[in-house]
Amino acid sequence: MSEAPRGELVCNASDVQVNQAVRILVDDYPVAIVRDSEGVLHAIGDTCSHADVSLSEGDVEGSTIECWGHGSQFDLRTGEPLSLPAFEPVPVFALTLDGDSVYVDVTNVLNGAPAPDLN
Ligand code: FES
Repeated sequence: MSEAPRGELVCNASDVQVNQAVRILVDDYPVAIVRDSEGVLHAIGDTCSHADVSLSEGDVEGSTIECWGHGSQFDLRTGEPLSLPAFEPVPVFALTLDGDSVYVDVTNVLNGAPAPDLN
């Protein structure tokens, strides 16, 4: 039995392949839905904490995603950068699967990073 959906329906899980990231918008706020090398889905803020670069355009490897801007890698589970020049985490959001439906709650930041400023 799956959990009750929380947050917004953002995509189908089957649309996100292993080692792939998809950019979606929740109330105009960009979120990256990422499937890691183990097949686990993650929801993180799509904008690199170093500069205005979309992380979903980067490479997924293991449980990390690499920003194409200057090469910082972020841990998909914690949002923490694992290499410079980024030194601040990106937010990690609560993600719920209900069958093939992916729900993300951008008001539920799991890692202590600043919550998005939604208008
Ligand atoms: S923009 Fe991401 S590391 Fe610089």
